[in-house]
Amino acid sequence: MKLQSFTLVAIAAVFLFSCSRQTKIAEKPAIPSGQNHGMIKGSPFVEDLLSKMTLDEKIGQMNQYNGFWDVTGPAPAAGGGAEKYDNLRAGKVGSMLNITGTERVRKIQEIVVKESRLGIPLIFGHDVIHGFKTLAPIPLAEAASWDLEAIKKSSSVAAAEAAASGINWTFAPMVDISRDARWGRVMEGGGEDPYLGSLIAAARVKGFQGDDLKSPLTIASCTKHYAGYGFAEGGRDYNTVDISNSTLHNVILPPFKAAVMAGTKTLMNSFNEINGIPANAHTYILRDVLKGDWNFKGYVVSDWGSIGELPIHGYAENSKQAAEQAVKAGCDMDMESYYYLNHLKELVNEGNVPMALIDDAVRRILMVKEELGLFEDPYKYCDANREKEVVYNPAHKAAVRDVAKKSIVLLKNESALLPLKSGQKVAVIGPHVKDKNSPLGSWRIGSDDNSAVSLWEGLQAHKNIEWLYAEGVKLTTAPASFTEEVSINETDTTGFAEALRVAAMADVVLLNIGEHGFMSGEGRSRTNIDIPGLQDELMEAILKVNKNVVLVLQAGRPLDISKASETVPSILLVWQLGSESGNAIADVVTGQYNPSGKLPMSFPRNVGQVPIYYSVKNTGRPLKNDFNPKMVFWSHYGDSEKTALYPFGYGLSYTTFKYGNIALSKNLEGGLSATINVTNTGKMAGEEVVQLYIRDKVASSTRPIKELKGFEKVKLEPGGSKMVTFLLTKKELSFYNDKGEEVFEPGEFDIMIGGSSDDVQTASINM
Ligand code: NOJ
Repeated sequence: MKLQSFTLVAIAAVFLFSCSRQTKIAEKPAIPSGQNHGMIKGSPFVEDLLSKMTLDEKIGQMNQYNGFWDVTGPAPAAGGGAEKYDNLRAGKVGSMLNITGTERVRKIQEIVVKESRLGIPLIFGHDVIHGFKTLAPIPLAEAASWDLEAIKKSSSVAAAEAAASGINWTFAPMVDISRDARWGRVMEGGGEDPYLGSLIAAARVKGFQGDDLKSPLTIASCTKHYAGYGFAEGGRDYNTVDISNSTLHNVILPPFKAAVMAGTKTLMNSFNEINGIPANAHTYILRDVLKGDWNFKGYVVSDWGSIGELPIHGYAENSKQAAEQAVKAGCDMDMESYYYLNHLKELVNEGNVPMALIDDAVRRILMVKEELGLFEDPYKYCDANREKEVVYNPAHKAAVRDVAKKSIVLLKNESALLPLKSGQKVAVIGPHVKDKNSPLGSWRIGSDDNSAVSLWEGLQAHKNIEWLYAEGVKLTTAPASFTEEVSINETDTTGFAEALRVAAMADVVLLNIGEHGFMSGEGRSRTNIDIPGLQDELMEAILKVNKNVVLVLQAGRPLDISKASETVPSILLVWQLGSESGNAIADVVTGQYNPSGKLPMSFPRNVGQVPIYYSVKNTGRPLKNDFNPKMVFWSHYGDSEKTALYPFGYGLSYTTFKYGNIALSKNLEGGLSATINVTNTGKMAGEEVVQLYIRDKVASSTRPIKELKGFEKVKLEPGGSKMVTFLLTKKELSFYNDKGEEVFEPGEFDIMIGGSSDDVQTASINM
């Protein structure tokens, strides 16, 4: 009986809704939209609960508040806080963010469970991006490990600590593909490539959610930012996104789809518009693709106040229309704009928003709460003893140290300066050497400041080397909080003299310079992506007194290090590696761990090349070797090479690897297998990421000259070999055409295998 009435109401609502949507599309042209609006059915428990809820209570579930007041102090008498308390009691809140710690979470949960009419527990969200207290490397760094198990493990550590501290929902993973190093949020994602990005997205979702969402050590994930946020024009955060259907389907959407297939429970909208339609109100990506084609059963939350930005975009006339647009498009929960709370009731009562759409959103939210086990025990994340035991557990340190050392990328190692040798005198110079804050990286709001193992501390465990220290350049303008701009000292050279004195005495200099951890992240776009402040100058000065310099580069994004790559013999990219930063770097520079990281994002020669990525189209005028180099009419720059300085997939080891020839064969399922022999030709054991790329030579929509479609990280002893086999199905050989349909087009394919996107062997096959 219930099922029948549900079905009838839903069908009627969909009919009414699609009529109104067609009118809307006529008014504001959108990407062509199908008819699948992806309504779900709840569990018996959820359907029963829904039937008891008033409209106010339903809308309440769709409302998320920030917990900006001190919840353990006295209740605020006036202002937003007081009203929020009242609304918690009235069942007008479904979720809160930024309340952490078992005591505080319990206190808020008790208000809702004990004092509201139906006692529906809240879901508590938080940005647990690369750890809660124990921090792993920033996500872009982790992507450089190409180690999906280590990445999954790091997300599970983050989940365990967050869950033990009262949180049951993280606003991660961030899966926005980006090719623009000016955009500060590249630090938060998996880099430039949709294939690698998809596998990392799935690994992170599985790490956060585990096999059992009811476990008190796992939490729901929120895959973000749906969609296109990484393609902001000019790399300026929150900026306009104008992209083709091909880019949307082939580059931007795959990691989201992979996260949905891996079971992510929620998604977050992005702030940007896509081709004129703000993502919050984008019916096509939300209803047609996500809830329709992908059959996503979880819920979608807006980004912070972003429904409130629809009028500012110039898409809604007022707040009421913004609420209508967002809910119709498929945004289920409003983070901090209060537009759902303020307008949905009126919109439903006037008949402008079908009740079935409200029910659908509420069902989705309640279903996730049910899956987390919150109805069985609303306080299951509020065990103070577990909090003490799990947060900063030593096993977590070991896990983040493991992924941290795997995230380090060796970019250059002339004269084998690395690894350092026993008995050497090594000068460790730079503003980051003793800093315990910057290595934690951006986006770590739950963590404790100054809690990283500094590089200096990490090195002290290695007594066979004599360590000398100088600061060189002061971090005089380090920010007080992550909301403030930061820059590195540009005027004070008083530390130079001591740095040069120490450098001159040493066999080798480890020069630890680069971006401060708060120079990347949200709102941190830069037009100049060089090594900031006086650090470059310090490097030049040191090279004059000692040529044996290892640049230990801190960065939250690809930087322009062209000058350094010409003058410095060794470069080790150490990103911002989190809590165990100093130990992980020490593991690598001393040779206890042989570096194995490969770049997940290309390093440009200069900012003018950005956006730069390996997976480019050929164009009608690519560079040809037999062109007269003085002739200008080909796709290039007159003042710079067009290749990256260090491309996607690149990274050295202390050993060397030799690749054999590719053997290809077709299989019965219409796919192929590609085999290659890889040998460790050096003197140390090491790991190599063997990468497979394809090129679809001729297609109905032009395809990139290289697309990653497989990789395997192999470990080889000196002299050891391994046959690596890749199996490609028709799926890997397919692409999305201009209509967004996935198609396989028979014809010739190049299959390329190697240790970097710019260093491959090629064989061809007709499929
Ligand atoms: C805005 C950011 O864009 C988003 O990633 C984050 O999850 C929310 N704020 C909540 O903090």
